[in-house]
Amino acid sequence: MTDGPDLSVRMGALVLKNPILVASGTFGYGSEYGRFLDLSRLGGIVTKTLTPTPWPGNPPPRAAETASGMLNSIGLQNVGVEAFITEKMPYLRTLDTARIVNIGGGPLEEFVEVMEKLVGCEGIDAFEINMSCPNVAGGMDFSTDPPRAAELIGALRKITPLPLIAKLTPNVTDIAGIAAAVEEAGADAVCAINTLRGMAIDIETRRPRLGAIMGGLSGPAIKPVALAAVYRIARRVRIPVIGVGGIMSAEDALEFLMAGASAVQVGTANFVDPRTGATVADDLRDWLVKKGIQTVHDVIGSLSTT
Ligand SMILES: Cc1cc2nc3c(=O)[nH]c(=O)nc-3n(C[C@H](O)[C@H](O)[C@H](O)COP(=O)(O)O)c2cc1C
Repeated sequence: MTDGPDLSVRMGALVLKNPILVASGTFGYGSEYGRFLDLSRLGGIVTKTLTPTPWPGNPPPRAAETASGMLNSIGLQNVGVEAFITEKMPYLRTLDTARIVNIGGGPLEEFVEVMEKLVGCEGIDAFEINMSCPNVAGGMDFSTDPPRAAELIGALRKITPLPLIAKLTPNVTDIAGIAAAVEEAGADAVCAINTLRGMAIDIETRRPRLGAIMGGLSGPAIKPVALAAVYRIARRVRIPVIGVGGIMSAEDALEFLMAGASAVQVGTANFVDPRTGATVADDLRDWLVKKGIQTVHDVIGSLSTT
């Protein structure tokens, strides 16, 4: 590490060398990307949502491009928690970057089952709880209702002392209210946002462009929505906020930091260039140097509204 501004951020017990993470579902289990970039340039990797058993996901087609965003209906395809522990964690343990393991499920018992299997698995730095997948039945139930959100986080809080990050859906009226509920239930951080429900139609065939008919919209199209969500949440809760949605550049990341995010995640941009997260981290450092700013903390929440 060369001299320069301090990019490190802390979220409870989770310390990140820089505030740039890669988002769940857009970076596999890390190993798929090791040949494209030096993964130690990232603040951390959030792995694909894990469910109790391997899951094939939704019927194809599962991705469609729209004007400024991507629609997907992958539906939590994953190797299952047991294969993750034996086949994916050994590689992740070798990396000099934070490992944030994202878990999900249908009913609460499935989240608990996955978490119980991961407790004691060496090398995990934090858990991100996907309470917000629009592509599985019941996937958003936990982040659309404050008492249910609190119930889920409260149950998981009892199982692990590691940092818990609650990942919220934007498909609600009051996202800050959900954030307040998970804070109260013991979450260490909140991540916003997951994808926005959307659809697209092929007018020649008059068929939906996704096999699951509807999916989740991501990419630059959702950045203003994500930014407003982060701003609202950061004003409501004391725990750190992680911003995600349409980040393609350091300038985008800076907007989120100024709005109050302590860290950000790069998602869809990884499909354009898998090195985006590392480039954003480097460019963020350069921006701080150019401005003569010693620490990224001077940027976090620095938005001026008067
Ligand atoms: C193809 C794809 C798969 C995704 N899978 C997951 C997932 O398994 N778990 C999760 O919490 N979020 C998942 N997401 C949501 C992203 O992590 C992120 O919250 C969202 O895409 C917004 O960020 P972006 O605009 O930078 O992509 C997925 C997104 C995409 C595009």
